[in-house]
Amino acid sequence: MTPFSETLRSATWADHEAAEAEDYLRLLMAGRLSEQEYGEMVAQHYFAYVALEAASRRLAGHPVAGRFVFPELYREEALERDLLTVYGPSWRERIAPSKATRTLVARIDQVADWPGGYIAHHYTRYLGDMSGGQFIRVELERIYGYGAGGGADFYRFDAVGSLPRFKQEYRARLDALELDEAERQRVVREVRLAYQLNTEVLAELLHVVRPAA
Ligand code: HEM
Repeated sequence: MTPFSETLRSATWADHEAAEAEDYLRLLMAGRLSEQEYGEMVAQHYFAYVALEAASRRLAGHPVAGRFVFPELYREEALERDLLTVYGPSWRERIAPSKATRTLVARIDQVADWPGGYIAHHYTRYLGDMSGGQFIRVELERIYGYGAGGGADFYRFDAVGSLPRFKQEYRARLDALELDEAERQRVVREVRLAYQLNTEVLAELLHVVRPAA
């Protein structure tokens, strides 16, 4: 049987391409957004990761989902540092979850008591942040002059050590899940949904930074 990590990747790569092609990310990577406009994405990440990490904390002792709880990945504090850097000490009053983020957060909360659902959202975010996210970090540091300590800390995983080794271990845990074919398909569907919901967050951001687009 194909390792589940490979199935997951190949069955959802078209959704990945759609996420990666979002115009907001293109403008960001081209250095065409102001720092505050970049902050709009950081703010939306903040609300999504607060929800994801609340689920992680609740599931730490779960026999299946607990294998996908990694405190060394938690992003909430890094995002707070990034928001402080972009918006200053009043950052909390400056940010609010968008409609698409509220939909994403509601879905994370809704599926969190199903191990496959939690794993689907966890995989879509953290494995991406540790993959393409590393390229994004290099660009953000070049564009905005950030270093360690705030701005793009979201993409720094100092507590993890070697990212390739961690991703290898993560995939081994995906492969070790005991899922029948129907459950595999259900998880694939949830990853596809997770990509779509995350892509909608980016699409909505474009209308914030380029209202006429
Ligand atoms: C500029 C935007 C992006 C670029 C350039 C990018 C690039 C990449 C690349 C090159 C990989 C493969 C890395 C490897 O094989 O180790 C990857 C993996 C991944 N990316 Fe992205 N990505 C972007 C945006 C996103 C977004 C927005 C998401 C999710 C919402 C995402 C989720 C993922 C996931 C889950 C993987 C792991 C796939 C797997 O190996 O199973 N990426 N990305």
